[in-house]
Parts: sequence; structure tokens; C-alpha cells
Amino acid sequence: MAPVAINDFDSSDDTTLDEKLEKLLRTHLDLNISRSSFSKNLHTGADPAGLKILPASSRSRLEADGVDLSKGYPKIPDRTKIPVYLDEAFAIRNEDYPYIERGANADPEKKALFSAATEVKDLTKHIGTEIVGLQLQDLTDKQKDELALLVEERGVVFFRDQKLSPKKQLELGHYWGQVEVHPQTPQVPGLPGETVIWVDYGRANGSEITFKNADLSNWDATKFKAKGNNTWHTDLVHEHQPSGITHLHLDAIPDVGGDTIWSSGYAAYDKLSEEFKRFLDGKKAVYVSAHAYLDRADPFGGAKRIERTFPIVRTHPATGWKFLFVNRSMTKRIIGLTPVESDLVLNYLFNVYEKNADIQVRFKWGPAKPGYGASAIWDNRSTQHRTVWDHEGLDPRHGTRVTSLAEIPYFDPKSKSQREALGLPIAKED
Ligand SMILES: [Fe+2]
Repeated sequence: MAPVAINDFDSSDDTTLDEKLEKLLRTHLDLNISRSSFSKNLHTGADPAGLKILPASSRSRLEADGVDLSKGYPKIPDRTKIPVYLDEAFAIRNEDYPYIERGANADPEKKALFSAATEVKDLTKHIGTEIVGLQLQDLTDKQKDELALLVEERGVVFFRDQKLSPKKQLELGHYWGQVEVHPQTPQVPGLPGETVIWVDYGRANGSEITFKNADLSNWDATKFKAKGNNTWHTDLVHEHQPSGITHLHLDAIPDVGGDTIWSSGYAAYDKLSEEFKRFLDGKKAVYVSAHAYLDRADPFGGAKRIERTFPIVRTHPATGWKFLFVNRSMTKRIIGLTPVESDLVLNYLFNVYEKNADIQVRFKWGPAKPGYGASAIWDNRSTQHRTVWDHEGLDPRHGTRVTSLAEIPYFDPKSKSQREALGLPIAKED
């Protein structure tokens, strides 16, 4: 980083010291306090340099949809509009807004969706289903409702060989809820909420992901500085109304590697003893944002994360099942326990999610037919996910992600676990 010169600190006007500092923080391109923590040198606005490394398959998908690439790609949010202070970031969507749970309105048998597919196959017993022979761009509203319910029951649903434009993907996201528009992450130009998922771009701009630091998933991610999305997490848990359904479409897929893994929070909860479930039911925890901001009252005190308090066991609004809502990257402490107790319990719960292979599914995105991509649509409440960066960026990997925000998290003491609701055996003597 270039040093901040004395000339940058404009003393010629009559603004206060705090105002001068704020102006400097918002405009100085080398001050990276509120930028994404893993990309130091991100451009502001549409990036001509990014366009040069955009994979050909991604470029043709974007151009076919009329995305304006003339100024560059991706579009990085305007430097001066990115929140610098915690209170600004906290204020984003910090209010109740209406949410329609589409899955709750669906035919439980999903006849419209399943009858239109050539094949519906469960990839594991507890999580993950692939639908074959359907194009997401052609779904009727009834099928979208049924797909929402399937996603919410099965955790994640996959579609290969999709012809899906960014606009259609965004439209689908709007159907399932308010689409999240991130104040910091790269977006497709002209399509706010169409977030670019492109580790190669981050690497070209200072992200130091390596073979060694890409996978520290069973360690504390923040403490040991694991990089990228390679640690287990659930997206956007710091929102007033956090994520519901998230849809990632990859239009550039490595020949081998770059898989994604999901783990089921319904099943993670059912792994616990009945006594331990009773202990956790009704408890709350503190969840933090992935990005950090400055405390206006203490700007030199270091960057801080947005914090929200939610139930650690949630009830799903569509399935009615209880699920464990924790993740190693963003769940910080359980309210009411001492820090030592909280760490002990949380670490155990993270491990239940992360280390039980029988409640996980690993998706190999390719190969896709030339000109087609693959989609994963998941319930970003009742699951965790992580990528596997084994291709080390040697093959391009690029995609677009749309997240529909959902309800204010709640716990209904009368709700059942998935196994209880489905009548599967539960060892009472645990
Ligand atoms: Fe993620």
C-alpha cells in the first residue's frame, strides 16, 4: 500500500477532524479498511483489467444477455459508497420487510416439477438431489414453488446443462424473496444482486490464496486466516433477515476440481442426543458479518464486524423442521454461557456439521455441454457449504450468485426435528 501523504489530508477547509478523516477513508484508493478482506487492490467501477481474464464461456453468456461489458467487468461498487463505519453497514436492510415463503405454498408431492423432469435422483440419503431434463429458465410459478420446497427439504438441488442468462437467474431470485445486493462484492454490470463468484479475479487483485492456506476448515478460520470460501459457512448471517434460497450458476467450470460441498443442518441437529437438543433449544447466539468496518466512536480501535443475535436452533418456515444454525466462520458465542463453555459447545457443533460425511454431498460441477452451465440451488439457512480449491486456479472457474433473503429467524418450541417428522428412528437412550 502506498503511504498516505500529508497532502491527502486536506487541512485547507473548515471541516472537523472527524469529517476530514471520514473523507479520507472514503476516497483514498490505497486505504482498504472496509474493502473485502481478501482482495486488497480492487478497482472501483467496471474493471477493464477483469475483462481481459474473463473466461470465454462466461463472456459469451453475459454478452448473449446484453450485459454491457464496454467499460469492463466485473462491476466493483463505487469506492465512495461502500460503508466505512459499522453503523452504516448495520443500517442496510435493518428493518422488517415482507417475505413470502414460496415453499409453504407448494404441492408437497411436487407433481408439476417432477412430471416435467426426465429424472429426479437423490445423491445421498440426507442431502442433495439432482433434477435432469428441465431448464430453470422455463419453470412456471407452480414449479418454482415446488422447487423451493424441494430445496428446503433436501438442502440443495442441482441442475446440469443449463442455458441460463444472468437476467433469468436474477428473476428467479426475485420470485423467492428480496434479492440481496452486497455493498462490497463484485456484481454483473447493470444487474445489482447478480454477484460475481470468481476467485481468479480476487487472486489477480491481491488475494493470497495458496495450496496451504486454502483449507483450514477444521481450525478457527478467522484466527488462522484460511482464505476464500474454503471454510465451512452459511452466507449472510449478519442480515436482519438472513438468506433463504441461494442460487450459484457456474458458466466456467474446471475440468477437474473446484467442487462444492454442502452439509445438512437438519441432520446435524439430529446427530445430537435428545438431552443435548433440549439444552440447545431456545438458546441464542451472536453471528457476525464476513466483512469488517470501523467503529465511528473508536475509528482507531480496529475493524469490527456487524453482529446479530439469533436462535441457535431454528425452525424452518416451509418444512417446519428444526435445524442447527451455526457455522465456524460466523457464529461467535452462545448467549448465557461463559466464553470457555461457549467455545467448547460451538466447536463441538461445528465439528458435527463438518466431520459427518453421511450428512454431506459433494457436487462436481462439470463437465457441461459447450455453451451450457450448471446450477446449485440451496437452502442457505439449514445447510453449510464450502468450496474445494484443489484446481489452484489452473483452470478458470467463474459464476454468478443470487441470494433471496428470507424470514427473521425464529424457534418454535413445538416444532419437530426432521427425523421425528419423518418417523425415522431416534435413539432415546442417548
Ligand atoms: Fe458461500
